[in-house]
This record gives sequence, C-alpha cells and structure tokens, in this order.
Amino acid sequence: MFEKDIYTNRRNKLKDKVSNGIALFLGNLESPMNYPANTFHYRQDSSFLYFFGLNFPGLAGVIDFDSGEDYIFGNDADLDDIIWMGPQVTIQENAAKAGVAKTAPLAKLNNYLSGVINQGRKVHFLPPYRGENKIWLEQLLGISALRIGEYASIELIKAIVDLRSVKGPEEIEEIKKACATGYEMHVAAMKLAKPGVREQQIAGTIEGIAATGGGMISFPIILSQNGETLHNHDHSQILKEGRLLLTDAGAESLLHYASDFTRTVPVGGKFNQKQREIYEIVLAANNKATELTKPGVTFKSVHLAASEVIAEGLKALGLMKGDVKEAVANGAHALFFPHGLGHMMGLDVHDMEDLGQIYVGYDDEIRPSDQFGIAALRLGRRLQAGFVVTNEPGIYFIPALIDQWQRDKTNADFINFDNVNQYRDFGGIRLEDDILVTETGSAIIGKRVPVEPDEVEKIVAG
Ligand code: GLY
Repeated sequence: MFEKDIYTNRRNKLKDKVSNGIALFLGNLESPMNYPANTFHYRQDSSFLYFFGLNFPGLAGVIDFDSGEDYIFGNDADLDDIIWMGPQVTIQENAAKAGVAKTAPLAKLNNYLSGVINQGRKVHFLPPYRGENKIWLEQLLGISALRIGEYASIELIKAIVDLRSVKGPEEIEEIKKACATGYEMHVAAMKLAKPGVREQQIAGTIEGIAATGGGMISFPIILSQNGETLHNHDHSQILKEGRLLLTDAGAESLLHYASDFTRTVPVGGKFNQKQREIYEIVLAANNKATELTKPGVTFKSVHLAASEVIAEGLKALGLMKGDVKEAVANGAHALFFPHGLGHMMGLDVHDMEDLGQIYVGYDDEIRPSDQFGIAALRLGRRLQAGFVVTNEPGIYFIPALIDQWQRDKTNADFINFDNVNQYRDFGGIRLEDDILVTETGSAIIGKRVPVEPDEVEKIVAG
C-alpha cells in the first residue's frame, strides 16, 4: 500500500467534489472458477484500491460526505481462517493503514445503510460489473440486481473520473514498475520469435515474467501470427519463417497499476519488403502521436493525425487513393485501422472503463462518433498533464472486412481494392507505447521497448 495519507487525501478530495450523502464502495469478492473454494486469481476493485488500498476480499468502504467520516466494514479472521490462511491482522489494523479509524463487521452494513436511507440521505455507488456485487447491492439497497447499474451515481462517477484521470507521482512510479516488467516481457517474446516455436510457449513465458515481477498480467495476453484479429487470444500456432508475430501484453505492479505494450516482429528476424513498408508507416503514426500528445489538445485530434499518417503511407504504396484528409474524414483508413489510437491507463489497463467510457473518454465538448473506426476510440477529450494514455496505431488486413467493403463499394473512391487484395495474408502490425502527458508535452514511460525495425530484427535474430 501507499502511505495512509495518500488514501486520506484522495477521500478528502472526493469529499470536496460530491455534495451530500454517502458513497458505498463494495470491494470485490472471491470469484469461483469451477467450485466455490477454487477461485480465480483475486483482483480487488480499482476504485476500492484507489480510496482504501486494501487488497483482500470481503470489504465495503463508506465515505460520508455529510459528516466527513470514513468507514471500513469487514470481518476479522476466525480460527478456521487462520488455520487455512495463516495469521491475519485485524480489520481495524488494516483500516488504519488506509487512514480509516471507524470499522464494523460486515453484518452491520445492512443496518447502517437502512439508517442512512431512513434519514433521506443519498447512497452513491458505482456501476457494479461483477454478478456477485450486483447481488450484494440488491441485498443491501433493495434494487434489482438486473437494473442496479441504472441507479449508479453519475455525480460520483464524474468526481472519481476527475480524480483518477490525473495521476499523482506515486502512481507514475507504480506505472513505471509495471512498464519495466512489460519491457522484460516483450524483449523475451522477441527473443523467442523463431520458426518452430509454439505461440503458447511465448505467451506462457511472458505471463510467467509478469508473475515473477510480483503482480500479474494486466489483461489476457494477445499473441498471434494472425495479428489482424485485434484481440487474438488463440495461441495454438507454430511460428513460421516469414510471418509476423504480434504481441500485445502488459503487467500489473504490486499495487495493481498497469502497463500495456504492443510489438510486432518478423518470425526469424527479417522483415520482407512489404512488412517493413507497412511497419514503417505504423511506426511513423506512433511517433507522430507521441509528438502531438500534450495538454490542451484533444486525443481525438491526435487519433485523426495518426490516421492521416496511415492513409498517406498507404496511398504511397498504392493501397489508398484520393485526398488523404478527405479519406480520413470519410473513415476510409478504418479498413486498415479499425480501432482507436489509445485509452487511459492506470489502476485498470483500460482505466475506469467500468465507470462508463462516455465519462472517462468524452465530455460535453468532445462527443463519441458512430463512424466505423473512430467509434472504437475510447478517449477523445482534451488531455491534461498527468493523464497516462496508450498510443497504439495499427494496420491490419482483415479479409472478411476487405470483402465486405469491396462488395458494398464502401469508400471505393479512396481504396484500391485490387492492390489491397495482394495483402490478404499479411496479418497485422500494431505498435503501442504508454505515454505520460507532461506539463509541456508527453513522454514515453520507462525505457521504450525496442521498436526501430533494425533493432527489432537484431533482437529476434540474435
Ligand atoms: N492492449 C489491449 C487493449 O488495449 O485492449
């Protein structure tokens, strides 16, 4: 955990932003895999971690905006727990680590909340995303688990998004640790990218590096020679000379801050001409995005600028045609780049996505678009110093999408379908860094994972 003042200050800042009532934060419970006692790896809720820091199941936290008091509800370990889990400190001692003085057993939570409701005070809560917590909230508040998300507090969501979007120095240090582990994972993946190696061997090795770092992976590893499938979790193939291997993976630090990098390398260590040409376009788009990322600009404008670099490069190769700005305005580049440039990152790899992308990535000024491609942009709004974002442009050749656009003549004024069809078995390239928005611009966090094509070839071949 951080020092207790960090958590106290965060809760005090929240108290300045929410007018009245209480905020109820349910920590995550254990979640069974195949029978109750055999659970998935435990992951605490990120907002709970942000305000209370305690990383174990069976807790609820309360912040009272009227009295200014904070509470932790949870049960002390009994003898049976101690026999199976070893000696445990009390809830009171744990709560003190987060600067919370008032504690009570979980059984008292129902009564406490009834009292608050009977006083006509508002109970703010965040949209639950786990079935267990939906049912728990139903039981506590008497609102159907099926509809509980509709009653989440927009005031609380907006206040938390304001706080969690701007990372403090202690958070940047954690993200740096996660990035250092991510660096090791990606360099290891590059060194293993040899013909005959199984994708699963590489995925397993780098997951082990994340675990060795003390945390865990920040999301299920995406690793495949079929990089054109954006989130490909199938690792069943054997690497073949001449193909590309895309690896999108990151780690969590001990305090659960994320990293998220993508690299694409030539199996065996030599890009062919087509691969190198496309790779250099993606790298130019990535570099352009880092250069443009700074406080005050909208991330949507950075996404569009990176899209123009992609469209320009593809036009030079004869895959696109016409006016580049017009092509991007029409979404023609999305045939090759059908996702967003990046997302917020912090305690979640897609930071605060549980609170609603509309609040995290957009605001009254910048609204989401429904145009294919940019519709998948998770972050569009104006950047502020302290935001941590990913920068992950890509170019993919997705046969099913090419076929549909060709059949429907979608953006036919901007696409040379005959030439595009020469790339049907290309796969995909994505290059992703994690970036801190600084006071004056932006900085790649930690040591940049090798990205220059010559450097990548050397590591793979070596
Ligand atoms: N790196 C995985 C994702 O952004 O969804």
